[in-house]
Parts: sequence; C-alpha cells; structure tokens
Amino acid sequence: MNWWENEFLKVKDNKLYLEGISAEEIAKKYGTPIYVYSRRQIRRNFQVLKEVFASAQPGLEIRIAYAMKANPHPDILKTLLKAGAFIDAVSPAEVETALKAGFPEEKIMFTGTSISQEDFEQVLRHTGVTVNIDAFEQIELLSAARKRLRVKSPVRVSVRWNPGLGRGFSSKTVTAGRRTPDGVPIKFGVEDSLVVETFKKLKELDFLPVGLHQHLGSGWTEEDFPVAIKAVDRMVGKVRELRKAGFELEFLDFGGGFGPRYRSDQRLFPLAEYAAHILDKVERAGFGVKAIVVEPGKFLVADAGVLLARVEYVKKSYGNLFACISAGTFNTVPRPAIYEEAYHEIVNASAVNSGKKVKVTVAGHLCETGDVFGVERLMPCPERGQILAVLLAGAYCRSMASTFNLRPIPKEVFI
Ligand SMILES: Cc1ncc(COP(=O)(O)O)c(C=O)c1O
Repeated sequence: MNWWENEFLKVKDNKLYLEGISAEEIAKKYGTPIYVYSRRQIRRNFQVLKEVFASAQPGLEIRIAYAMKANPHPDILKTLLKAGAFIDAVSPAEVETALKAGFPEEKIMFTGTSISQEDFEQVLRHTGVTVNIDAFEQIELLSAARKRLRVKSPVRVSVRWNPGLGRGFSSKTVTAGRRTPDGVPIKFGVEDSLVVETFKKLKELDFLPVGLHQHLGSGWTEEDFPVAIKAVDRMVGKVRELRKAGFELEFLDFGGGFGPRYRSDQRLFPLAEYAAHILDKVERAGFGVKAIVVEPGKFLVADAGVLLARVEYVKKSYGNLFACISAGTFNTVPRPAIYEEAYHEIVNASAVNSGKKVKVTVAGHLCETGDVFGVERLMPCPERGQILAVLLAGAYCRSMASTFNLRPIPKEVFI
C-alpha cells in the first residue's frame, strides 16, 4: 500500500481511484487540469478534530473554526457548516462569503491585518461577527467605523496577541515571535507588554472584549510540538494576567497550524496530545471560559483535494527528464513555486506502480523556471496522455492561484 492511500484515495488495478471513481474517468469527463474534492474526506477530518477534544468537561464548548483562506469554495463552507464548524475570516469578502454560505454572524470571527476603516465598516454591518484585533492601533479605526455606522449594539471584540514564539513549515508561514527564522519582522498580533492595555482601551471605548487569540504559524509537524505546547502555557499565563486586571473571557482561541501528512517521511503533529494539553491546562486553571477555539485550515481540507493534469509529452534535455503537463503551478498548485519547502506528492494515476522508476521533473506550462510541481521525483516514467495526480491540493491551492501567463484557473468538482 502506498503511504498516501486512505478512504479517499485508493489504487485498484494499478490505477488511482478517488472515492471509488477512476481518476482517468474524471479527467476524461471534465478535462484537465481539474481540482477534485471529496466532501466525505472533509467530514472525516472534521470528525478527527472533534474526537481529539471529546474529553472536554461538560460545559466547555469546543469550537472548530475553519480558516477559510485555505479554500473558500461555497460547497466546502456548506459541508463544514453542516458538520458544526465556525469560521475564521481574514477579509471583509471572506465574511460576506461565509454569510452567503449560510454561517450565522455569531459563528464568524474576523481577524484582519493592515485593516482600513472601510474594512471595519463593512464587517460591522454584521453586528454578530466577532472582531479580532491585530494591533492596538486598530482600535482607533474600529471605533471610527462604529461611530460612522452608528452601531448601537455591543461589538464583540477579541485580541490577537503575539506570544513571542512561532512555528511554521516555512519561514514565510511563521506568524508569531519577533522575527521569522529568515529575519523578517513579524507583523501579526499585539505584543505581550501591550495586551492588558489593549483590553483596557477596548473596555474604555465600550467594546465588549470576549476572547484572546493566538496563531503561531502553519504546517506543523512533530518537531513543532514543544513550541506549540509552550505557547499554550503562555496563553494560559496571559489569561491569568487579564483576569487579575478584571477581564473575564468567553473564549480562548489557540489558532490553527497543524499539518496533514504531505510526505512519507513527515512525522505528524501529535494532535491528540496537543488537545489533551490544552484541555488539561485550561480546565485546571478554572478560568470559567465558555469555549476553546481552534482554527485549522490545512488540516480540514488539504488532503481532501487533488489536482489532475495530463502528460503532454516527456522531454529529455541535458540528461534531465521532464514530464510536461497541462497545468502551471501558479494557476493550480502554487505552493511549490512560493515556498521552497512545500512538497506535493505526485502520482501517475494511469499507472500507479508499474515500470522501472526514473527521476522525473514534473514541469508546468508557464514561462518561469520555478514552474515545477516536483523536482527529480523517483517514479515510473510517465507517458504522453497519462493522468498525473498532484495530491493535497485542497488547501492554499485554488485560493492562492492566479491567472499568470493568462492561463485560466481550473474548475473545481466534488465527488
Ligand atoms: C489567523 C489564522 N488562523 C488560522 C490559520 C490556519 O492555518 P492552517 O491552515 O495551517 O491550519 C491561519 C493561516 O495561516 C491564520 O492566519
């Protein structure tokens, strides 16, 4: 069995099947490139998350807020709404899209960075939405937006703080701490020393501070566990400080970041232990909070999507072998072109395991050297007309895709 086989992806007679349907048939029916998503896989992932928190004390609600930036397709939103999800939205348009998909305002939190007064005005039209502020300096803009709209009802506000440490699979996805490992100053969150003051200011201006939020970064594996745990402890310490200052919180949001398995040698983030640690710390502290929130994107949808593309020809040049396919990374699966560390398994859906393995670079049709889905992958040599499947294309692929080179963004189908 291949490491990536699961209930969604199976091999039968040396061909790849997605939820029991042949990848070749799907490609024939819809053309390539095409994104193929499984609602069932999304539901399974949601269930896994629910189960790791199942031992929460009665009365402590667990909110799984889907970070919809990962993939805002309305059918994905509706699937997760039905499963019981909340929403983490990062732009006014994401808020509107979640509302359109049927999420009630009360289940949406808006977390924005470099936000304008106009952005806040758009969000405050929906008074049930919780606004998660990312900077002390945002309060003035939020306040001006509320005044301009003459909002009378209480505005629920939470504070994204930066606990001073972060982790991510790439330097570009580390979202807390002072600087990324590459030395870029990190723009997110309110620094430690300003958190209490931020809450005080919000209260003074008659906002309703209800939560504390942190998000360390994206794509955690087992190595990230110690830092993730440390950040949980820091959060608990911060809540203690806030309570001393007179703030009782409704929820604590620990953010997202836990990665699905992208590659065979990746050791998975120990989600169950992480959940147990959060529950233990929060329940023992006796803060009386109503809810714990986690905010996954990748974990819920990455492995529920696949990109299918056709091999147009196999090219040899200077001893290199290229499978030239009917897709461009930027337009379909941009992660490998953006992040050096990103890896997407590529499977020959037409002949999964047959033939002698050779080193093949899977190249896209864009005018850019970096437009490669995988470099020198050891796989059975693809042939013209065969279908390749780029796995884990459900998160941060369609949502990050562009029309670079005027190549269209592919259609998305659900099976
Ligand atoms: C505020 C916030 N929450 C949650 C997430 C989800 O991250 P992931 O998809 O790695 O779970 C992100 C993405 O980086 C984010 O910025």
